[in-house]
Amino acid sequence: ATYETLLVETQGAVTLIRLNRPQALNALNTQVLADLIAAFAAYDADPTQRCAVLTGSEKAFAAGADIKEMQPKSFAEMYAENFFAGFEKVTATRKPWIAAVAGFALGGGCELAMMADFILAADTAKFGQPEIKLGVAPGMGGSQRLTRAVGKAKAMEMCLTGRMMDAAEAERASLVARVVPAAELIDEAMKSAQAIAAMPPLAAIANKEMVNAAFETGLAQGILFERRLFNGLCATQDKAEGMTAFVEKRPGNWTGK
Ligand code: HXC
Repeated sequence: ATYETLLVETQGAVTLIRLNRPQALNALNTQVLADLIAAFAAYDADPTQRCAVLTGSEKAFAAGADIKEMQPKSFAEMYAENFFAGFEKVTATRKPWIAAVAGFALGGGCELAMMADFILAADTAKFGQPEIKLGVAPGMGGSQRLTRAVGKAKAMEMCLTGRMMDAAEAERASLVARVVPAAELIDEAMKSAQAIAAMPPLAAIANKEMVNAAFETGLAQGILFERRLFNGLCATQDKAEGMTAFVEKRPGNWTGK
C-alpha cells in the first residue's frame, strides 16, 4: 500500500515505516494518524512480518502534533472528534515494534515514540514535552508514559519547563534502550528488529504482553499473568522445538504454532 505521509518498505520479515512530511518536521496531523493506523494494522495482519521499525528523518522523528491544524480548533470540535484518540489504535499493535529516533521528538512526537515497545536513539535525538509553551499539555499519553519511564522529577520538570532532554540524558533516565551514532541508527534498528523477527513469534507476542502488563496491574496479578502465559507457551510447538534444538545444539526452526 502507499500512504500520503509515510514511506513503507519491507526487508525480509521487518517492516520499516518512515514518517514523511519533511516540510513540517514530520508534524503529526489527521492524515498522518490515519496513515499510521492503516500501516500498523497492515503490519499486524501480515503473517510474513514479525517486527516493525518506525522512524522519521535525520532532523526530526516528529516535532509534535501539527500546531497549524490544531490552532483553529475549539474545545467542542476537539471533544466531538475525540482528537487524536485514534493513536490508541497504534498502541494496540500486538507484534513488536521499535521507534528509531533521530533529531527532534517533541510533544506528540515524543509521545508517539513512547508508544513503541522500546526507543533506540541516535546521539542527535532530543526529547521534550513543550506543549505548555502553547498553552496546552501533553495529549497523546505523554504525562503518563513519560512519568512511568523517567519518574516524577524529570517528567514534571520537562512538562513544566518544556526543556529538551538529549540522547545521553534520555539513556541515563531509561527513556531509551540504547544510543547509537546517528549514521548507524537505521542499521542498528533494523539489526535489532531482524533479531526479534527471528524469534518464535508467539513467544515474541507473549513477552510483549507480559512487560506491558507491568504497567497495568499490581505485582501479584502481573506475576500470575506472567506465570499463566509462561505455562501456556509450553503448549506451543515452538516451545518443544526450542528446547529440543537447545539439547541437540542446533538453531530452532520456528513454525509460529
Ligand atoms: C506544525 C511545524 C511543527 C509543528 C515544526 N513545524 N514543528 N508545523 N506543527 N509541531 C514547521 C515549522 O512551522 C516550519 O514550517 C518547518 O516545520 C520547519 O520548522 P522550523 O521551526 O523552521 O525549524 P527549526 O528552526 O529548526 O526549529 C525546530 C523546532 C521548532 C525547535 C522543532 O520547529 C519547534 O519548536 N516546533 C514546535 C515544537 C512543539 O511545540 N511541539 C509540540 C506541539 S503540541 P514553515 O512553513 O514555517 O517553514 C503537541 C500536542 C500533542 O504535540 C497532543 C495532541 C493531542
